[in-house]
Amino acid sequence: MKASIKSNEVLLAERIQHIPQGPFNIHPIFAKKAKGAIVTDVEGKEYIDFAGGIGVNNIGHCDEEVLKAVRDQIDQYIHTCFHVVMYEPYVELARRLNSLTPGTFPKKTMFANSGAEAVENAIKIARHATGRPATIAFEDAFHGRTLLAVSLTSKMKPYKFGFAPYAPEIYRIPYAYCYRCAFNLEYPSCELHCAYSLKEFFHTHISAENVAALIVEPVLGEGGFVVPPREYFKVLQKLCQDNGIVFIADEIQSGFGRTAKMFAMEHYEVTPDIITMAKSLAGGFPLSAITGRAEMMDHPQPGGLGGTYGGNPVACRAGLAVLDQFEKKDLLSRAEKIGKKVLETFKDFYDRFPSVGDVRGLGAMVGMELVTDRKSKEPATALTKRLIETCREKGLLMISAGTHANVIRPLMPLVITDEQLERGLLIIEESFGELHRTTA
Ligand SMILES: Cc1ncc(COP(=O)(O)O)c(C=O)c1O
Repeated sequence: MKASIKSNEVLLAERIQHIPQGPFNIHPIFAKKAKGAIVTDVEGKEYIDFAGGIGVNNIGHCDEEVLKAVRDQIDQYIHTCFHVVMYEPYVELARRLNSLTPGTFPKKTMFANSGAEAVENAIKIARHATGRPATIAFEDAFHGRTLLAVSLTSKMKPYKFGFAPYAPEIYRIPYAYCYRCAFNLEYPSCELHCAYSLKEFFHTHISAENVAALIVEPVLGEGGFVVPPREYFKVLQKLCQDNGIVFIADEIQSGFGRTAKMFAMEHYEVTPDIITMAKSLAGGFPLSAITGRAEMMDHPQPGGLGGTYGGNPVACRAGLAVLDQFEKKDLLSRAEKIGKKVLETFKDFYDRFPSVGDVRGLGAMVGMELVTDRKSKEPATALTKRLIETCREKGLLMISAGTHANVIRPLMPLVITDEQLERGLLIIEESFGELHRTTA
């Protein structure tokens, strides 16, 4: 391919002509290069990246050590297919993830390509290991777009609408979304009714002995950066243990340092039976992982799991370099500092801008929910969109989240400098100020 001299506008017209609208786009710009926390478009404009490729670039764009590992690997071999000729990077990364993930029991890991595939495999393994059909999922959950994954996903438009019939035997309960409690209760006087209601659910919707798995995000990602109370997952896990249900933590967005621990479940002191990982696992290379109790992971027969590209050697080498960089650069401490700064700033916005309805966070996974009115809590979807557009015009890339797309969810690379972080937050502040003046 020749070096591009096409403008964003020309490329956008070509994109519209040749590519369907389904694979959506948030920003009408095309990348030329990206490094650390800066993305440069084809016209040479630089943006501070608060989106990180939707949580994929926790260690920053084009990390030097990842590049070195990848270059070394492609000089040796790129693909043999793990099912045909095995290779060490797959085994080594599995070994590292088995010891890194919560839980001291024997574990095994397999690899796939995307988050959705990790979720699909986790459910298949749980069904095989338990001999049961059903899965419990949550309102506002996001688990991907393949047919089983989208059946587990909650939001109708755009994810589910028009794609029915969905995979069967999926049952949904409310998440601990305290700002919008499904039971109209308040924490802590609610005594975690949302978690304990699962007991009754087993009488009214699905018998516990037919449930293979409960799959849950430790912090809702696409659902709006919702952080449940500390004891929530302990209650859910106990109900799973009492009923022989596999507890699956979907750490695809919350994992790899985003919450200032390697895995968000560590904050809750809960050890899932199976963990799904993807996104920041391999610094931008398509790789996902499923790590779980050895006896469960070993249950499906040879050939029952796998795929042509799963655990590609280049992606596994990138993953190994990512783990090294987390240690070398102490990115967990950095995530803690970033989270503190963002939370403080968003709380200040809450005090100054009436459209901020709620601010919440865990580590650097901090969300700001916008509403048209604090009393009615009506989602301010249009304002959120305008805020994101205004920020882009000023040189900051951001994305939204939430079932009503009214939550600002910063997913900046954890290698972002203090100056870039300050500048990005200032752009949000300025944009907010302008939008409040125009809507006042
Ligand atoms: C929690 C969670 N699970 C699953 C997925 C699906 O991952 P992918 O888009 O790689 O299929 C995502 C993606 O945003 C996610 O955040």
